[in-house]
Amino acid sequence: MNNFTFYNPTRIHFGVGQIEKIKSEIPANARVLVIYGGGSIKSNGVYEQVSSTLAEYKWFEFSGIEPNPLYDTAMKALDVIKHHNIDYLLAVGGGSVIDATKFIAAAALFVEENHNNDPWDILTQQLKIKAALPFGTVLTLPATGSESNSGSVMTRDDNKLFFGSVHTYPQFSILDPQTTLSLSNRQISNGVIDAFVHTVEQYLTYPVNAKIQDRFAEGILQTLIEEGSCVLNDQNNLEIRANIMWSATMALNGLIGVGVPQDWATHMIGHELTALHGIDHARTLSIVFPAVMKIKRKQKREKLIQYGQRVWNLCGTDDEIINQAIDKTVEFFQTMQVPTSLSDVNLGASDIDAILAKLKQHQMIALGEHRDIDLVVSREILEKAL
Ligand code: NZQ
Ligand code: ZN
Repeated sequence: MNNFTFYNPTRIHFGVGQIEKIKSEIPANARVLVIYGGGSIKSNGVYEQVSSTLAEYKWFEFSGIEPNPLYDTAMKALDVIKHHNIDYLLAVGGGSVIDATKFIAAAALFVEENHNNDPWDILTQQLKIKAALPFGTVLTLPATGSESNSGSVMTRDDNKLFFGSVHTYPQFSILDPQTTLSLSNRQISNGVIDAFVHTVEQYLTYPVNAKIQDRFAEGILQTLIEEGSCVLNDQNNLEIRANIMWSATMALNGLIGVGVPQDWATHMIGHELTALHGIDHARTLSIVFPAVMKIKRKQKREKLIQYGQRVWNLCGTDDEIINQAIDKTVEFFQTMQVPTSLSDVNLGASDIDAILAKLKQHQMIALGEHRDIDLVVSREILEKAL
């Protein structure tokens, strides 16, 4: 196992009715900005629960954060923060709302400290931020793990970029599985697939004898397969929602990623697909990941065998296990009703050059756990995904 330092300061309140814990987390004298998306929280009762919990606070709201959140929208929140002297943010929504809140929290102080320099530099130049406004989250879509990590992905024009800082962990997150009952099948599937691919990005690399991380990862994958296979046919089952919700948090709160090599090539290629073609984040992953397994089969051989044996209970020769493991993964994605090839989303060979040009522009030229996925290998992956 590799050396590591593990740090995760986010306090989690999990379960039905936990929204009221907001009161024990946000200081009574805080001036709070509630940040949310396009309005799902107004139709599923979450907005009412949050506003009644905040009844004794001085609070304001900022809405309209879109899926794959846009820099331009987030920047508008800075005026509200300044105007109302906001000193605490509360994100209520899915990964996009939480990611945008992280950016807003960082940008608000960055602009103050850097004489109005553009906070987009934090993403393009990977600047280390020195501080951010404190914030908490009420998660309504289990998928990204953003509720319990420091990362954020923002989009400006057709550039979808990542930043993360020790200052952008949520102070607390409320995970009430009841809030997820209003999700569409598409968003439920997306969440399961995103959490699944987060897990394999940190697991399906090469062995370093990290037994806890491996077995935790395998547990998350098996839970997602088990619950994912039922969730679309058992719409109101709160137990299933609870297990999916906790799996998604555990998949990307840092725990399974410590001390092990990490891949993330599927995500980096996927981000370009979203930026160029507007494909949902998780759906880019279900397209790219099967091709990554196939093209990196040799480098991932030992972990592919372990994955086949332990996650899918496969037996046979090593090559049979790998073939079946890849097939089983694709079948699982298909039962989750997500695309598994570029042709499923009406993209073809003629679209590949533009994706590669974006990877080059964003310096995504040495991806994967061995940093050996250059643009030539990315082309092979995309061709395999056709
Ligand atoms: O905007 P509203 O009206 O709230 O509707 C949202 C949105 O349209 C809706 N929704 C959310 N909760 C709902 C609900 N609808 C009904 N009932 C509910 N309870 O779902 C739609 C999608 O929401 P979004 O937040 O965009 O989805 P998700 O959580 O999948 O987040 C995706 C974003 O997170 C980034 C992705 O790139 C993408 O931009 N990621 C962030 C990561 C991180 N911070 O660690 C890691 C991930 O790999 C990912 O890159
Ligand atoms: Zn993801």
